[in-house]
Amino acid sequence: MEPAPIAGCTGALLAGGGATRMGGVPKGLLRLGGETIAARSVRLFRTLFGPVILVANDPAPYAGLGVTVVQDVFRGRGAPGGLHAALAAARTPWTFVAGCDMPFLDADAISLLASRREDADVVMVRFRGHVEPLHALWSRACLPALERLLAAAEPSLRDVAALVRTRIVEEDEWRRVDPEGRSFANANTPEDARRLGLEIGAPAGAPGYAAPHPREDTAMELTGWLKDNEARFVSELVEFLKIPSISSSTQHRADVARAAAFLRDELRRLEVDAQVFPTEGHPVVYGEWMGAGAGKPTILVYGHYDVQPVDPLELWKSLPFDPEVRDGALYARGAVDDKGQVWLHLKAFEAWRQVGGPPVNVKMLFEGEEEVGSANLGPFLEKEKARLAADAVIVSDSPMFAKGVPSICYGLRGLAYMQVDVEGPAVDLHSGSFGGAVLNPANALARIIAGLQDASGKVLVPGFYDRVRKLTARERANTKRLPFDRREWLAAAGSPPAPWGEGGFHVLERIWARPTLEVNGIWGGFQGEGAKTIIPAKAGAKISMRLVPDQTPEEIARKFTAHVRKIAPREVKVTVRSLHGGAAFLSEVDAPAFRATERALERAFGKRPVLTREGGSIPFTATIQAALRCPVVLMGFGLPDENSHAPNERLDLENYRKGILSAVYLYEELARAPEAVSPRPSGPRRTPRTRRRGNRRR
Ligand code: BES
Ligand code: MN
Ligand code: MN
Repeated sequence: MEPAPIAGCTGALLAGGGATRMGGVPKGLLRLGGETIAARSVRLFRTLFGPVILVANDPAPYAGLGVTVVQDVFRGRGAPGGLHAALAAARTPWTFVAGCDMPFLDADAISLLASRREDADVVMVRFRGHVEPLHALWSRACLPALERLLAAAEPSLRDVAALVRTRIVEEDEWRRVDPEGRSFANANTPEDARRLGLEIGAPAGAPGYAAPHPREDTAMELTGWLKDNEARFVSELVEFLKIPSISSSTQHRADVARAAAFLRDELRRLEVDAQVFPTEGHPVVYGEWMGAGAGKPTILVYGHYDVQPVDPLELWKSLPFDPEVRDGALYARGAVDDKGQVWLHLKAFEAWRQVGGPPVNVKMLFEGEEEVGSANLGPFLEKEKARLAADAVIVSDSPMFAKGVPSICYGLRGLAYMQVDVEGPAVDLHSGSFGGAVLNPANALARIIAGLQDASGKVLVPGFYDRVRKLTARERANTKRLPFDRREWLAAAGSPPAPWGEGGFHVLERIWARPTLEVNGIWGGFQGEGAKTIIPAKAGAKISMRLVPDQTPEEIARKFTAHVRKIAPREVKVTVRSLHGGAAFLSEVDAPAFRATERALERAFGKRPVLTREGGSIPFTATIQAALRCPVVLMGFGLPDENSHAPNERLDLENYRKGILSAVYLYEELARAPEAVSPRPSGPRRTPRTRRRGNRRR
């Protein structure tokens, strides 16, 4: 009878490690009835599992098996190194791991282990007082613990088991499927081999030695180098942060250009083919390294090197462009938004250059106008679309849900930014001489603003909510699971007397998935000391609306303008202008690039990341998603309380370090499934973006 296949599990044979040979022959090539024992195990694995891998330092002897051979990067560190290679290479949640010298692996025995997986991270057998970790089911959840132990002196698989949820199948239960414990018998010595009835010696027609297999599991090897260079990563970032690249200020034009050149020079130092592209505004820095080869995926990394203005300066504890480390954080304008998160990608790339280069092709695009609406980025992307082609886009410009909670953000709000100017009399008037007979522009503006929104925040612009997409059931469930603490959140918001917002929506839903309208600034009339009785000639306001899918900035700007014109008193002149806009972003979270990012973050933080949306905007995300039609993954390392845009902006240095590590792992994880990094174009799932287009009324 055919054994039943085991879902979500890879079969892995370990043929690495030290004593892998017997009589000059790799142990997996010992034979039983003419067949090598490795071939026999692979044959069994093929009936039980989808994927089968073999871990070996020297893959050549196993070339004939037709399975994926993975190399053990922890040479000489025994079984834990082999297990690491197997788990890191497997793309299923579970891996059955056995030695290549076990001639009697058995379907029923393996199935029994598999049937005990629930609520465990590893399932193994105790037999004759001995727990067997190399005939066991291991889950990916063990990887972080395993990697921590491998960094230690003498790792042992039993130590790993102590750190995860271990289930032991006891001997009495085991005896029903394997009374003698034959399924984990192995051939360590010629004596063992004879007892087990194995033939020693090269098999007839032994496979030839093939070309060396490219190594993909090198990220772990780089951790030592990363540690040695930690201090330099901070001091370089400090230099980058000293450049006051404030994009909104014409005074700082040359500084913005200097920051662009700084990035270009670093890219060139790392042998990335990099250039500064001028635009009508600030330049775009773009570089590419295609050294992984045409068969490998290409990723596009995006960030911005421009920063926000620094006012009010007097509230900074240290000067914004004189970076300072205090309490494990680096304080400076741009530390978290976004120079620190740009630099961490360069350092991850640099790490990979120590071993030749990353296993994926890398394109990097850094913008200098993000903080002012990215007006010139759209035309640049349109023009350079062919050059930018990629399988996945990675953006690090968003916060983590909380400290210690690695996060992947799959949605951002869009923005429509407007200015309303109200003009009345040609000059300021004496309010006694004219008051009551001339409409005051500031009063008129107040009435207009009052007509934009009700007390709960509902926007009164007709048609404003027409295209607002609701949270899906899956998103709602995900949001509920997040570790949200209302009190902490209020404190992070600067402790207003109470939260506020549309009734019937969770705080996170209000921020992530509901559109808003905000007055950013308002002016008009007398602001000086004391009192002055006038009717001002003019008043005005900057008003922005955060948008959500499927609202578009163009349509909302149009509706806003029409509404303001309609409610504006006729006795004043009202001008409405659109300053800039950007579309909301929402991504399909099932793309393999998201899985790869999840695995990378899990390896770096020792924890599975959560999925979030955010209320902020990055115009690039929606634009590039539409242009390249590939997954856009936001892997951010900021914290919600790091004061981006505010005084005392900072970057937590532990997150900086883990961010670099995450990016190092990400390259490896993305390389692992080249065919699967971007979803197949004909796949059954459509991205929200394409669905949106399909639904658009014409
Ligand atoms: N990094 C932020 C965007 C962000 C903020 C993402 C919070 C996630 C959470 C970005 O630099 C930013 O500030 N964007 C502006 C964009 C605007 C000027 C078009 C924003 O959101 O106000
Ligand atoms: Mn930013
Ligand atoms: Mn910003």
